[in-house]
Amino acid sequence: MVEIHVNLGANSYPIYIEKDLLKHAASYIQKQFPDKRIILISDDHVFPLYGIELKQQLSAFTNCSSLILPHGETTKNFQTLTTVYSAMLEAGITRSDLVIALGGGVIGDLTGFAAASFLRGVHFIQMPTSLLAQVDSSVGGKVAVDLPQGKNLVGAFYQPKMVFIDPSVLASLPERYIHDGMGEVIKYGCIKDAELFAQLQAHTSFQALSPILTDIIAKCVDIKRIVVEQDPFDKGERMLLNFGHTLAHTIEQYYQYERESHGEAVAIGMYQISCIAEEQGLSAPGTSNRILRVLEQYGLPSACGVSLKELLKAITLDKKNLNHHLNVILLREIGDSYIYPTTPAFFEKEGRIV
Ligand code: GLY
Repeated sequence: MVEIHVNLGANSYPIYIEKDLLKHAASYIQKQFPDKRIILISDDHVFPLYGIELKQQLSAFTNCSSLILPHGETTKNFQTLTTVYSAMLEAGITRSDLVIALGGGVIGDLTGFAAASFLRGVHFIQMPTSLLAQVDSSVGGKVAVDLPQGKNLVGAFYQPKMVFIDPSVLASLPERYIHDGMGEVIKYGCIKDAELFAQLQAHTSFQALSPILTDIIAKCVDIKRIVVEQDPFDKGERMLLNFGHTLAHTIEQYYQYERESHGEAVAIGMYQISCIAEEQGLSAPGTSNRILRVLEQYGLPSACGVSLKELLKAITLDKKNLNHHLNVILLREIGDSYIYPTTPAFFEKEGRIV
């Protein structure tokens, strides 16, 4: 078992990573939270696979209710939030009780935000079941719901009490969700860990990574831990995690979240911004080509066929683009990232298609 400790003073917590961990996670919870009521929140894809057994185990020592929500991003809204609050009230959850999020990023973000706001904050535990949630969204305390105007527009920084990561659940994920998560895994190699990047290069596919998957996930989580410990509220260092994300968000918005998944859009964003940075002498020559080759290995795209001019219109509307200033994340080289303050003009080049 890998155990990583996130040190954030009173908001510190352990992250456990082990294959088949979900089968015995209940015993850890019993030890840490004896006699607490629990509500388990999941979705209609994940609950039948892992939630039924977990609920049975939790019910053996405490009062455990469950709420099963429809899967998918459209669940992450204010309407669903009221459903979650009602279920918490009905379950008799008090401030000292416990909420468990069992699912991908949607369930984790929504449940986390509900836990942050219900009774001004109740304990919650993350049990991420997608690769993206395991390496990124379950760690670091960003919780949110979407508004019709955009994703994650209402949220909080609210750290979980524990995170349980079971890499064996990824075996039931459709291939596209694996690609989605691999976009973020590659990102960690790009921004902080040339050795991780080399490991990804050396294995030819996600299947080939299987024997070292726990180690790969642990490396990503540990990078995130270090970044979050330095900058829990996303004011500096944590922005490095947004490598590829400026273009990614605009691509996702441009196609109204219906074409590229987040990880696919991040893949395109990482490659394209590295091409632009190299042209301007801001990244070492060959950086974008190395990214391109690794993206191809893991079935990820590097372009989406839209003119940059079109995307720029969306960039200027991005919520992080205040007063026309823009912080983009660039690589000096693979494994070494930095924040580059600029304006949307950074992206301008006549006729460029990304
Ligand atoms: N997903 C980026 C962050 O947690 O800051």
